[in-house]
Amino acid sequence: MCGIVGYIGKNNAVKPLIDGLYRLEYRGYDSAGIALLTQDNIFLKKVAGRVNELDKAIRNEPLQSHIGIAHTRWATHGVPNDINAHPHTDCKNQIAVVHNGIIENFRTLKQFLVKKGHKFQSETDSEVIPHLIEEFYDGDLMAAVRKACSYIKGTYGFVIISLASPGYIIASRMGSPLVIGRGKGEYIVASDLAAIISYTNEVIYLKDGDIAEISSDHLRVEGCESGMVFPEIEKVNLTLEQIERRGYKHFMLKEIYEQPIILRDTIRGRLNYEDGIARLNGISNYIEDLRDADRIIIIACGTSWHAGLIGEYMIESLAEIPVEVEYGSEFRYRRPVLKKGTICIVVSQSGETADTLAALREAKRHGATVLGICNVVGSSIARETDAGIYIHAGPEIGVASTKAFMGQIMTFALLSLLLGRLRRLSVDEGRDIINAIEKIPDQLQSLLDKLPDKIKKLARTFKDHRNFLYLGRGYNFPVALEGALKLKEISYIHAEGYPAAEMKHGPIALIDKNMPVVVIAIKDAIYDKVISNIEEIRARQGIVIAVGSEGDTQLKKYVDYVIYVPETMDHLYPLLTILPLQLLAYYIADYRGLDVDKPRNLAKSVTVE
Ligand code: G6P
Repeated sequence: MCGIVGYIGKNNAVKPLIDGLYRLEYRGYDSAGIALLTQDNIFLKKVAGRVNELDKAIRNEPLQSHIGIAHTRWATHGVPNDINAHPHTDCKNQIAVVHNGIIENFRTLKQFLVKKGHKFQSETDSEVIPHLIEEFYDGDLMAAVRKACSYIKGTYGFVIISLASPGYIIASRMGSPLVIGRGKGEYIVASDLAAIISYTNEVIYLKDGDIAEISSDHLRVEGCESGMVFPEIEKVNLTLEQIERRGYKHFMLKEIYEQPIILRDTIRGRLNYEDGIARLNGISNYIEDLRDADRIIIIACGTSWHAGLIGEYMIESLAEIPVEVEYGSEFRYRRPVLKKGTICIVVSQSGETADTLAALREAKRHGATVLGICNVVGSSIARETDAGIYIHAGPEIGVASTKAFMGQIMTFALLSLLLGRLRRLSVDEGRDIINAIEKIPDQLQSLLDKLPDKIKKLARTFKDHRNFLYLGRGYNFPVALEGALKLKEISYIHAEGYPAAEMKHGPIALIDKNMPVVVIAIKDAIYDKVISNIEEIRARQGIVIAVGSEGDTQLKKYVDYVIYVPETMDHLYPLLTILPLQLLAYYIADYRGLDVDKPRNLAKSVTVE
């Protein structure tokens, strides 16, 4: 949510800043801005719209500077326009700041500053930061930043440049990620690695409360209260190739096509055929606690929450441990009853979602053991959980999550196998599951080889419909929710996901000859019930697009269109049934001419409440 990049070093700052913004644009893209320190002033340019607009606006200016900051915004306070875009400055244009997060007490701070004579330009919460620093500046910029931090309530990751300290940039975080890359004679600070890795793989993750003073050849970090800290320099193995489109029209399509590979990565080294069990080293110290847990609470937001629902069904049926699934945003403000013996599992692609992170902290405050299922290595959630499992999906850039969802479901398949074996499944049953899991990547690949043409046809037929219904039961009910979410997110068509049988308690009223209904009707334990639900739709002239199991030729008789997926075990079907729904959403959005990777109003990682 909002992309931040700052540069200090031997080269012209403009290129790393603009390149960095392009790479961070998936975090927010309603306006963008840049500030550069020049000999005797701060050059500032801000525009509403995409990074491309900013790039065009400065392309012909002869800009030369070795120090600068830039930002791509996802609006929280104040509409997206030139004035509300970052960087923001103090009254004298001597300090420029880019900020990510929400300053909850900004109204109080603004009143305090206005009384002191400060003049504000924007409607943003962020603008209080340069004014606070200006107010407290007394010849020592670090001291002024430290004091400003002590006044701010809320979350922030911010980077500042100042005419008073022309050899430095200063960065600080509280709840919003910031990472510093160390190059040769240069440092780049950014809200995530994507803006850094083409320059260096040596990075320092700032921790909450840290304030970093960065010159071109030196880095000094102070904890907000604890004085000097000695940050660890880590080597990251992310490659540029991993975050590029490599010929695909959109990142989302590339990521859909990567799914067989990422599933192989998720299961690599984690299946033990001899014992018919999964091995999850990241949580090895907590296996007994999990086995004996009287309850597991899965906490997540968005697509990760849907993966959590599938996890609930898997763990309950394979391991017979009661599971609940909570939205991070609800859990954090309830009074959750956490007893000794309850384990929380937080699920997050980015590892930075503010509500999930706050729920994690709330659970820990209650003394719960909290485990994580994350994609981004070194993210806040990965760091703050007691232990966790990485899904190894690689960087996900498309705002609509696809491959991370796949990795999360597979991780739950491994976890439920492990717990199931420890509690009730035989070695042979475990081996059957392993056989089925190992087939999934190839089955998915075969679908990717043959499905797109068929789905493109469907997409062309239905792209102008205004409503869709998605139905599924059992393991495939969360798949219906996720299919509907994908369509909403990127095509702006209203879609609802529902448990198929619940349809008759409301949504059935919506069905007429204009309503396409996507029904997941695979040959599982409740197939016949789903067929009855399909009959109910057909009786009301709804159009049925079914996802069925290969070999089920009967299904064609009941529906208008059918997409077949290979057969697998009931609990593994979501790994196959979600693929046609991802592709359908993708092609509908693409045929509607929409920007699939940057859907309006959304952001990849929601680091504000
Ligand atoms: C945003 C993204 C979704 C994602 C959700 C949770 O809304 O657009 O794709 O599912 O956040 O993100 P997380 O990183 O915690 O999985």
